[in-house]
Amino acid sequence: MSGAAAWGSRAGALSGWRTARGLPVFLGLLLLLRAGSPASPGSPATGQAPPRFNVSLDEAATQRWLPVLRHFDPGFLRAALATVIRETVPSWVHEALKPLTAKMDKFLPQPFEGEIRGICDVLNITVGDGILINLAYEFSAFCTSIIAQDTSGNIYHGRNLDYAFGNLLRKLTIDVQYKKNGQIAYTGTTFVGYIGLWTGQSPKKFTISGDERAKGFWWENAVAALLRKYCPVSWLLRNTLEEAENFEAAVIKLAKTPIVADVYYIVGGVSPKEGVVITRNRGGVVDIWPLDPTNGEWFRVETNYDHWKPTPPWDDRRTPAIKALNTTGQENINLDTLFKVLSVFPVLNNLTIYTTVMSAANPDKYMTRIRN
Ligand SMILES: *[C@@H]1O[C@H](CO)[C@@H](O)[C@H](O)[C@H]1NC(C)=O
Ligand SMILES: *[C@@H]1O[C@H](CO)[C@@H](O)[C@H](O)[C@H]1NC(C)=O
Ligand SMILES: *[C@@H]1O[C@H](CO)[C@@H](O)[C@H](O)[C@H]1NC(C)=O
Ligand SMILES: *[C@@H]1O[C@H](CO)[C@@H](O)[C@H](O)[C@H]1NC(C)=O
Repeated sequence: MSGAAAWGSRAGALSGWRTARGLPVFLGLLLLLRAGSPASPGSPATGQAPPRFNVSLDEAATQRWLPVLRHFDPGFLRAALATVIRETVPSWVHEALKPLTAKMDKFLPQPFEGEIRGICDVLNITVGDGILINLAYEFSAFCTSIIAQDTSGNIYHGRNLDYAFGNLLRKLTIDVQYKKNGQIAYTGTTFVGYIGLWTGQSPKKFTISGDERAKGFWWENAVAALLRKYCPVSWLLRNTLEEAENFEAAVIKLAKTPIVADVYYIVGGVSPKEGVVITRNRGGVVDIWPLDPTNGEWFRVETNYDHWKPTPPWDDRRTPAIKALNTTGQENINLDTLFKVLSVFPVLNNLTIYTTVMSAANPDKYMTRIRN
């Protein structure tokens, strides 16, 4: 479905951004360039649904991705992954990390190590590169997440995932149903070859999204942290979907488990008031920011900045999102109107790869659309 023919436009235009403090600068420039164009509030819920696959957790870790990979051209996947590595990891770092990543499989927890190895076997890339690719995205995702409660107490959760390499990643975006004993254990949205999750739902229990909390170059601390058995951010998200019994257990796990980088975890539950933004550093929790609907605080918006600080003027996606939610009103919020809020410029922007809206109480409504 994603043929090599479609492959051809590299994200080479972005090659300059990482030298200058990373993606924020690039995104800022983009927004400045677009500042003159009118916003388009309430644009209809457009975009294509990504392919949806079942991945069986009852299969061995090394085998479970094979049915998904079969749908993609291995040459295209190899080239796409090589591009992401080339554009996100300076070549000297790549060289320096090679001996380490080659051995790193021994440090990585299951099932992640097995899944990466299985995918690398099929694609004929080294496990070291497979690990690197799974870490390379880890610190570079720009996002908007929103959690909201309607006047009847229903909880809605939505997110935009913004990232470079859109031309590639839009073709690699998939919804995955992780099945155990014939049941859907949880659902998530990811990129083929990337085994962590930034977006997911445990049916009838809770939903989670992750937004980057930018801090320097990803490869500086990641390897050291991994060797100390800290968990990659997107692996903890997936692990929580797999293991936590309810909203509260999920929040505790996401708040406490050591991870390799700072992040915001946004979590929604199934009962009134079950919505929270968790601000994380590597060691533990920095701040917990719950919904407070009794005091009129019926939604929370998190982009990539601490909520108690102003956003930088060159990247304010927070205010437009809040404005759109105010305009929508608590009595009108639902998955459709939330999608519309996530479609307002610059909440939706040129880097947005996909939008997902979900509500754990209604797991069948989980919906992802590829944007642009
Ligand atoms: C954003 O994308 C639109 C549509 O492809 C394009 O017309 C516009 O020039 C892009 N803006 C920037 C700043 O890249
Ligand atoms: C995936 O699992 C669901 C739920 O059990 C099932 O209805 C569906 O047919 C499966 N899809 C495929 C492609 O096997
Ligand atoms: C796998 O990659 C290696 C090294 O690039 C190459 O020598 C080998 O021919 C490839 N094998 C297959 C089956 O493509
Ligand atoms: C949204 O509404 C709240 C409550 O009425 C108000 O305090 C806030 O200033 C509004 N924000 C924006 C950006 O419109």
